[in-house]
Amino acid sequence: MRAGLFIAIGVAAASIAAAAPPSQLTEGERLATILGCRDCHGATLEGKAMLTDPKIAVFYSSNLTRALPRYTDKQLDHVLSTGERPDGTRLWYMDAAPYAVMSRADKRALFAWLRAQRPSGPEHPRIAMGPRFKAAVEAGRVKLESATLARDLANPPSDLGPATARGRYLARTVCAGCHASSLKGVEDAQPGDPPSLSVVAGYDRVAFATLMKTGLAPGDRKVGEMTKASQVRLHALKPAEVDALYDYLSRFPG
Ligand code: HEC
Ligand code: HEC
Repeated sequence: MRAGLFIAIGVAAASIAAAAPPSQLTEGERLATILGCRDCHGATLEGKAMLTDPKIAVFYSSNLTRALPRYTDKQLDHVLSTGERPDGTRLWYMDAAPYAVMSRADKRALFAWLRAQRPSGPEHPRIAMGPRFKAAVEAGRVKLESATLARDLANPPSDLGPATARGRYLARTVCAGCHASSLKGVEDAQPGDPPSLSVVAGYDRVAFATLMKTGLAPGDRKVGEMTKASQVRLHALKPAEVDALYDYLSRFPG
């Protein structure tokens, strides 16, 4: 549609990507890093195997370089913020609540960078559920994000006023995918699961910045998936963003 319009008015297709200023593309790439798109869909967005055990499921993240040209910006926004494709199929494993609260400016930059990636790599098949996955879905242990979205959005983390609004926004978009949209951690948390972010009250500002940058908790402790999250995602937060996160989370009541 978009490309068709540009061609109709005589603008070469290549100039569409060029229309996004370089600073917006750099910011879009950084957002795709901190929001986890590049973690789950691969650095070049070609998608990858998430599960390959037929007893559980054979499951890939989508090849975004092939999927995105099929979506208008409005449709892409809808998929991200609802977890539902235009054809009515619903996404497994991919969050929606963090992206549903993203600002228009962040979406503009993110979409510009996503669309600037050339189509490459194979399309991946959709999920093939094995018996254990089916049983977990039937027992309600595994849920579609779209099924819990309304409840999640109706129970946002505490609003502590305008001075900490930026940190709250960052926590809701960057941390919530793992620490839950309430930021209170997963229900029935077991050791190694994401805790309530009220734990940040026990950190000083320097220790918090070190965890974001290096993945090491106080005492040079490696903390499982969190260490990986900082190494592949959170290291790209800007110092001012880390400060804003600390201002909010160190006061977050849990
Ligand atoms: C926790 C892992 C994870 C993260 C983070 C993630 N995705 Fe996904 N995404 C997936 C998986 C897995 C699928 C395929 C789901 C399915 O087939 O049911 C998917 C599917 C999609 C689709 C649907 C494409 C299609 O097949 O039609 C889009 C669009 C998408 N992701 C965009 C994004 C963007 C943009 C980001 C970052 C803002 C992102 N994803 C972050 C795991 C993730
Ligand atoms: C990819 C998932 C993921 C993301 C994204 C993520 N976390 Fe975590 N985080 C975890 C997990 C899992 C743990 C528990 C690790 C453990 O105890 O082994 C954790 C633990 C923590 C801890 C406690 C560390 C300790 O002292 O034991 C803090 C603090 C924390 N996260 C802050 C954040 C903040 C702030 C963000 C967003 C800027 C964030 N996390 C984003 C998965 C994540």
